[in-house]
Amino acid sequence: MSALRAKKVLLGISGSIAAYKTPILVRALIKAGAEVQVILTPSAASFVTPLSLSTVSNKPVLTEFVDDEHEVWNNHVSLGLWADLMLIAPASANTLSKMAQASCDNLLMATYLSARCPVYFAPAMDLDMHQHPATQEAISKLESRSNIHIPSAEGPLASGLEGVGRMQEPDEIVAFLEKDLMSKMPWLGKKVLITAGPTYESIDPVRFIGNQSSGKMGYAIANQAAEWGAEVVLVSGPTDNLTLHPEIRLESVMTADQMHRTCLSYYKDSDVVVMAAAVADFKPKNPKKSKIKKNVPLDTLSLEPTVDILNDLGVKKNKQFLVGFALETEEGLDYAHQKMIRKNLDAIVLNSLADDGAGFGHDTNKITFIKSDGSHNAYPLKSKKEVALDLLHEINHLINE
Ligand code: CTP
Repeated sequence: MSALRAKKVLLGISGSIAAYKTPILVRALIKAGAEVQVILTPSAASFVTPLSLSTVSNKPVLTEFVDDEHEVWNNHVSLGLWADLMLIAPASANTLSKMAQASCDNLLMATYLSARCPVYFAPAMDLDMHQHPATQEAISKLESRSNIHIPSAEGPLASGLEGVGRMQEPDEIVAFLEKDLMSKMPWLGKKVLITAGPTYESIDPVRFIGNQSSGKMGYAIANQAAEWGAEVVLVSGPTDNLTLHPEIRLESVMTADQMHRTCLSYYKDSDVVVMAAAVADFKPKNPKKSKIKKNVPLDTLSLEPTVDILNDLGVKKNKQFLVGFALETEEGLDYAHQKMIRKNLDAIVLNSLADDGAGFGHDTNKITFIKSDGSHNAYPLKSKKEVALDLLHEINHLINE
């Protein structure tokens, strides 16, 4: 597994002779599964051609704020937000100094200041420039701001001198990124099973009983678990075009019975199980094989309960850390706590339909995480992505206790 798979990488190239190695660096990043957008400083274009870089990255290379030829503005803010990580390689003495001072006279610097993602930098310059106190001070300043330093290597330099100042080789830079990203994946090696979305219970071949669940919460949890390096299976009822991390195994199901069977086939090997699906509680007793005609009076529909998947997983629980969701309208805390005990769960997530912006369809949620000892943490309204991260931190804390 590559930690760079599907990562959006902004590669900033500044004016140093080591820039001639960057097409190989782009290739290595892409081979590791990354998508690469190159930004060149104006002086870097003297060391490596934009054409080579656009060919290997399969994207136009950006240098200026405004692309006069195509009459487009290269928006540094969206570039900064697009990236999962930024790599400045080679980082020349001039670029390091500008980064340290927040100087902003080219597109790369403006994008650097706009980026919210982790920033890695690989200095490259002659040895005296590298060991100059001003350069070392700039490097220390960047490190103190949590930019990640890929230290220069020692060896022959373009000047003919020998010493520290060479940019690390492209393969070494990629290995450095992989190692660093892996170290931030606390769930590497863990198997995680998540359910999401509604289930649809057939009345006839065209009609069903369902609910308003969008699946967004379950997908956000699955994505976050995959970001943490877990091997994730997402068992999902019908949902609309939600973004899914490429490493996730998606099992699409329709009914509660299908969701149940699919969950059971992965349950034994799972370490963490989060049941975020809004499973239909009832299904038609005798679904019709052909479409019910509207001229045939139908004033009752006989229903029977669906299988309670979570309850069954609670009964079969062995090593798994099992988390349920509870959607309540009132008296939430007590009901959810009882539900956790009744279904033999390790924790339960309460979200209340009474809270604005929480529950079905929203991009936000407001949860209370209830632990098996009855203690709980109430969180404010947050994006579902942030809620997923809070939830994983809660679970992680408990499984490492
Ligand atoms: N759940 C399940 N199978 C069902 C119904 C629910 O696995 N047939 C799971 C959901 O995925 C969720 C949890 O049970 O994790 C709580 O669902 P909820 O509908 O809030 O509660 P119920 O168990 O249906 O209980 P009640 O209707 O009494 O609130």
